[in-house]
Amino acid sequence: MSHETRPSRTAVVIPAAGRGVRLGPGAPKALRALSGTPMLVHAVRAMAASRAVSLVVVVAPPEGLGEVKSLLDAHALPERTDFLVVPGGDSRQESVKLGLDALPPGIDIVLVHDAARPLVPVDTVDTVIEAVRDGAVAVVPALPLADTVKQVEAAVVPGEPEPVVATPERSRLRAVQTPQGFDRDTLIRAHETVTDNVTDDASMVEQLGLRVVVVPGHEEAFKVTRPLDLVLAEAVLARRRANDGF
Ligand code: CTP
Ligand code: MG
Repeated sequence: MSHETRPSRTAVVIPAAGRGVRLGPGAPKALRALSGTPMLVHAVRAMAASRAVSLVVVVAPPEGLGEVKSLLDAHALPERTDFLVVPGGDSRQESVKLGLDALPPGIDIVLVHDAARPLVPVDTVDTVIEAVRDGAVAVVPALPLADTVKQVEAAVVPGEPEPVVATPERSRLRAVQTPQGFDRDTLIRAHETVTDNVTDDASMVEQLGLRVVVVPGHEEAFKVTRPLDLVLAEAVLARRRANDGF
């Protein structure tokens, strides 16, 4: 890896167009409130908190485009950060692609960050950007696993016990988070080349045969997926308020 730091402009694409089926009925997940503020606004602020980020592209639910635009107009961002809102697609992958299509020239580092990870600390964002600046083409923040993981065979009859196929060595597994950081041209090539359905962007770069590296993630970068995650997110925000003396 080269340790030469190159001048760079960084943008973040935030896929926020999902419904949030696992969270249960209600507004699209990114628009649900945490401590009175929509999850998406927390996520945008978390990205804009990094001094390196000059543009945030929000990929919104198509029917919520106007609502998302006025939300972002209403919640002030730092002067240095521009934002754009574009409509999303049917899959996360498609939504990210639509966000990438909206990037202006002059951006050479792209982060992709789930709106569903509203509480990621700025240090994690900066660590990812730093690793791309230092020469990595793809960087993922990740944590070791607490649980042992089993690989199973899909049950032949739904509801029946599933046979275990293997137990991967836990110490070598990582649970990956976002923001994932990329050399812009590499990520665009990955999205143009890889057509398999994937659940993260780095795996598309892996499929190009390129090197993806892991940096330390953070507990507070967890993804709000199920109802209990809302309880945890509120608790994290309450702890931050207490620590800030509000
Ligand atoms: N996402 C998106 N477009 C889609 C699907 C997902 O932009 N068509 C975004 C979500 O808004 C979220 C991120 O991708 O910020 C991660 O996806 P996930 O946590 O799975 O969110 P949802 O797909 O909304 O949730 P669920 O799978 O429970 O429906
Ligand atoms: Mg989903």
